[in-house]
Amino acid sequence: MRTADNTDRFEIIDCRSGTAAGEEMKREVYAGLTAAQKHLPCKYFYDSRGSALFERICGLPEYYPTRMELSILKSASRQLMRGMDGGSLIELGSGSNWKIRRLLDAANGCLPRLRYVAVDVCESALLGSAEELLHLYPDLRVSAIVSDYRCALDRIGRDGDRLITFFGGTIGNMDAREARSFLSSIAAAMGRRDRLLIGADMVKQKDILEAAYNDDQGVTAEFNKNILSVMNRELRAAFDPSCFEHEAFYREDRECIEMHLRANRDLSVEIQDLDLEIEMKQGETIFTEVSRKFRRETLEETAADAGLRITKWFTDRKKWFSVVEFVKKRA
Ligand code: AVJ
Repeated sequence: MRTADNTDRFEIIDCRSGTAAGEEMKREVYAGLTAAQKHLPCKYFYDSRGSALFERICGLPEYYPTRMELSILKSASRQLMRGMDGGSLIELGSGSNWKIRRLLDAANGCLPRLRYVAVDVCESALLGSAEELLHLYPDLRVSAIVSDYRCALDRIGRDGDRLITFFGGTIGNMDAREARSFLSSIAAAMGRRDRLLIGADMVKQKDILEAAYNDDQGVTAEFNKNILSVMNRELRAAFDPSCFEHEAFYREDRECIEMHLRANRDLSVEIQDLDLEIEMKQGETIFTEVSRKFRRETLEETAADAGLRITKWFTDRKKWFSVVEFVKKRA
């Protein structure tokens, strides 16, 4: 699939080297499924079905983060775009384009000099979103980079100021160490005038958090189980999703949501491409996602450790979600 809009304002760069990505997946899944607590990397949720399910999650009444972040961006966008005159607006893990549109709408004056760079592991989501943006903003240039956001930064040109965005609270998928190293590598790629904008979900009451990951319609359950279908397709595994129950709970001790798939019977699963057969006891789980919730202090600390300094802080009335701007600390 390529975008229908045949325009020179669009380019797609595929950073996945097919074999390297395949090998990495095998390595990660093998390590995860043979560990004492079985686990799978959450990036494997996002094939085209998983990305579509995630879009549905974003519209669920219980899932407040997307709406909160959007409304924060709506009121912060002019302040965020005020100093920007061209350059690049980079979105790591872009998914749909609702959030970036808030910023683009506030950038009217400099759109012809602006490049929007979307980085996502899901090609179908990237193309769909790029196509819409090219229509909505007839002056905008769009680059789509199919990649894990980690390796994408080097590929982004240094022409003009850069505003790098990492929305959705996805920073919460990383543990403290991963977050620090991720932010350090961004800081290393940043110039003195570049900015980083991060959306973070904040610590709040347990029942609100748990409801957001246990919706009544069962969309999150389907999203969680979709990772098994991805394994079945990509690694010729034989998971039967009906043998697993969705589970998501808040761990107050670690201030994070954990998502698991719990086996509802004793079972064994063959994974052909890994030459592996795993056994699970009834009640045993595969840990599929961690979603950390933040406090202002933890974010400040992590940022400082990574060589970044907070320059702006936006939140909602209930302080449920934050959008934070960082620059590189002066040496
Ligand atoms: C896209 C990682 C931010 O952690 O809230 C939504 C993913 N998982 N419901 C999150 C997700 C279950 C989401 N992030």
